[in-house]
Amino acid sequence: MYCVRNITEDLYWVGGNDRRLALFENIHPISRGVSYNSYLLLDKKTVLFDTVDWSICRTFIENIQHVLAGRPLDYMVINHMEPDHAACIEEILLRYPNVKIIASEKAVLFMHQFGFHIDGKQTIVKEGDTMSFGKHKVVFVAAPMVHWPEAMVTFDTTDGVLFTADAFGTFGALDGKLFNDEWNSERDWIDEGRRYYTNIVGKYGPHVQSLLKKAGGLDIKYICPLHGPVWRNNFEYLLDKYDKWSRYEPEEKGVMIVYASMYGNTEAAANDLATKLVKKGMTNVVMYDVSQTHVSYLISETFKYSHIVLASVTYNLNIYPPMLNYLSDMKALNLQKRTVALIENGSWAPQSGKLMRECLEDMKEMTILEKEVSLNSSMKDDDQDIFNDLAESIIESMK
Ligand SMILES: Cc1cc2nc3c(=O)[nH]c(=O)nc-3n(C[C@H](O)[C@H](O)[C@H](O)COP(=O)(O)O)c2cc1C
Ligand SMILES: [Fe+2]
Ligand SMILES: [Fe+2]
Repeated sequence: MYCVRNITEDLYWVGGNDRRLALFENIHPISRGVSYNSYLLLDKKTVLFDTVDWSICRTFIENIQHVLAGRPLDYMVINHMEPDHAACIEEILLRYPNVKIIASEKAVLFMHQFGFHIDGKQTIVKEGDTMSFGKHKVVFVAAPMVHWPEAMVTFDTTDGVLFTADAFGTFGALDGKLFNDEWNSERDWIDEGRRYYTNIVGKYGPHVQSLLKKAGGLDIKYICPLHGPVWRNNFEYLLDKYDKWSRYEPEEKGVMIVYASMYGNTEAAANDLATKLVKKGMTNVVMYDVSQTHVSYLISETFKYSHIVLASVTYNLNIYPPMLNYLSDMKALNLQKRTVALIENGSWAPQSGKLMRECLEDMKEMTILEKEVSLNSSMKDDDQDIFNDLAESIIESMK
């Protein structure tokens, strides 16, 4: 059974949702599923913008058949070649053999690499090229590394529709709610939108900045990403978040405490620090057990908060492995501009503080607080002053 929705009079959402997939990109948990968006324009010519993941191909085909209602499919614009969107290209070619593919040069190269038989069907476009499908004229805008090198975005100048590929996407199935104003941004979108952005595109902040600059010159009425809701208002909210994330600026002044603890002693110290911070007036504190929380959530929260406390046991003269994994993800995703406080623990040769410091020094514009705490197995009453000082120095650094 088809399930489609109109975006404008002649533009349809023909995508679908996957609530069975456990891990997006086989890494990131998606407890609320994910949508794969594809859009179909009925003009003098018919134009499909991107395809979908293989998992929902059947629904996708039914949607297209329903909207086309017997018309041929003339064009397929491929903005992004990652298989969560490009997997069904060949299926479309088999069903609509006369379709012409419009894509960047690199996207066409990737089609060959993935083994798609597209010969003779492709038209290569580059930044600034335009095309008319009848009433609708589109312009192609390069968006390299958002989130692959071949990526572009396509702007329909007639109706002000920007097809943004992975930019402005989110995890989470649509649950019938196609438009951003059918979601509650702060309840339904922000946390998964941030987790999606930071883990998928987070590394490429400067590229996102240059896309934002290009988009700033367009008269946009609709933002159509490949995952999550279509935005048709509240652009300031969305663009403000993207601007902050891509400049690696925190959203909030607050403290995120991440602890690594096997037997609870480091956890107890982290709890004590959190309590001291709150008692001193800093109530915007969140705590995570690094072993219990998937690193994609940790990354998302790290992009949100201004201050991070890392508390880790020493493990075979190293940083506790899940903490090390979190730190290397931070580095891989280019995280910058945070203030960090460190707590180490060890029973015979505490090392984790020094090693965590080295990891952080390898990242850009990280401020590591001088006050560092080293515990021998557990926090004692004698350590109260040291922890008070640490809490003070965190709060002081927020001013
Ligand atoms: C497998 C393993 C390896 C450890 N390696 C070290 C080490 O290299 N240096 C050290 O000082 N402590 C080491 N420890 C001790 C812990 O870091 C220490 O007991 C810590 O206080 C435990 O804190 P927790 O209660 O938060 O888990 C090790 C403990 C385990 C279980
Ligand atoms: Fe992608
Ligand atoms: Fe994607």
